[in-house]
Amino acid sequence: MYFDHSATTQPDERVLRTFMDASASYFANPASLHAEGKRAEKLLERARTQLLGTIGLGLTEGIFTSGGTESNNLAILGYVYANQHKGRHLITTSIEHPSVLNVFQELEKQNFTVDYLSVDEEGRISLDELQAKLQKDTILVSIMHVNNEIGTIQPIEECAKIIHSSSRAMFHSDCVQSFGKFSLTDFTDGPDLVSLSAHKIYGIKNSGFLAFRKNIRLQPLVFGGGQEHKLRSGTVSVPHAAALAKAARLLVEEVDMQQFRHWRNDLVAFFSEIDECKVLAPNASAPYILSVAFAQITGEIAINFLQQQGLIVSTSSACSSKNSDVSHVIEAIQVPQEFEKGVIRISLGKNQTIEEIEQLKVAVRQLVELIRKGVGK
Ligand SMILES: Cc1ncc(COP(=O)(O)O)c(C=O)c1O
Repeated sequence: MYFDHSATTQPDERVLRTFMDASASYFANPASLHAEGKRAEKLLERARTQLLGTIGLGLTEGIFTSGGTESNNLAILGYVYANQHKGRHLITTSIEHPSVLNVFQELEKQNFTVDYLSVDEEGRISLDELQAKLQKDTILVSIMHVNNEIGTIQPIEECAKIIHSSSRAMFHSDCVQSFGKFSLTDFTDGPDLVSLSAHKIYGIKNSGFLAFRKNIRLQPLVFGGGQEHKLRSGTVSVPHAAALAKAARLLVEEVDMQQFRHWRNDLVAFFSEIDECKVLAPNASAPYILSVAFAQITGEIAINFLQQQGLIVSTSSACSSKNSDVSHVIEAIQVPQEFEKGVIRISLGKNQTIEEIEQLKVAVRQLVELIRKGVGK
């Protein structure tokens, strides 16, 4: 019983079929001038157009990448290096994924100034703080849509309005955890650059996409034959592109957010009744991510126990400057000390069943019994 869809998802069979078919029938190099190359190029461009249509926001450019990490790196480094003559001030949040946070830390070493927006106890940034931090020389703001550890949804439409109305900065959003589930197409304003990853949406690993607005200048990070409009050299994998477009289309068509909401509310109510447990971001998180923290037990012991009952959940990720057992997100939302090492993340998928949710509750009840007997000490 798999409850770790924020870490990765099992590829959808139909996506695998698209990948196999494209690998067999569209193997030609899409940069080749012959007819087979043209056929492959056509499929590649169809995938690009379809993905851009799913993202919306008026973003007309898109580059296929190796995943969310590369998309984030290309968006931030690529934009900052190409536009550093306009200013050297950058803004992000304290709870970004390491593929954003570590890029900004690298830029600080190169004498860029970075402001890290603080978050409240549910991981929400403050729009007032964002407004206050924007300066004349701010060139880029990067704010994730849905946090991968605690699921907090940031108000990226409002962020975009503030950024665009009061600065010249561009707005990048890491939408790896939200894409396909939350639609951006109705937004009246939104990010200028959007990062996606295929393996979070039942697609294939090592595949992602960076969408961006026309006229945005990026500096390439990989040099070579000049593929992908000179922004990412290397022969483009048409099968990966076609499979990503297929995964996106299927998820958008099939995702049942109402079902997620129902299960999540049920699980929030369930965990809230347990004394030894604290629900993180109960009012701010996406309906498919639920993190809870146990007192008197580590996340690792909890996930091992649940695994013995056939349930796969994860701990929050272990990336922290201060304390190797506590992630930077858990530190940022100031989880009380007795809970901070006991975090587990339950992330739901589109094929989850009610039986699995009920099994999870049974196993958690058993875990709580063990905690009461002092097993974590
Ligand atoms: C929010 C977020 N951004 C970026 C990434 C990196 O994506 P990828 O694994 O495709 O490099 C992840 C993956 O865990 C993520 O959750």
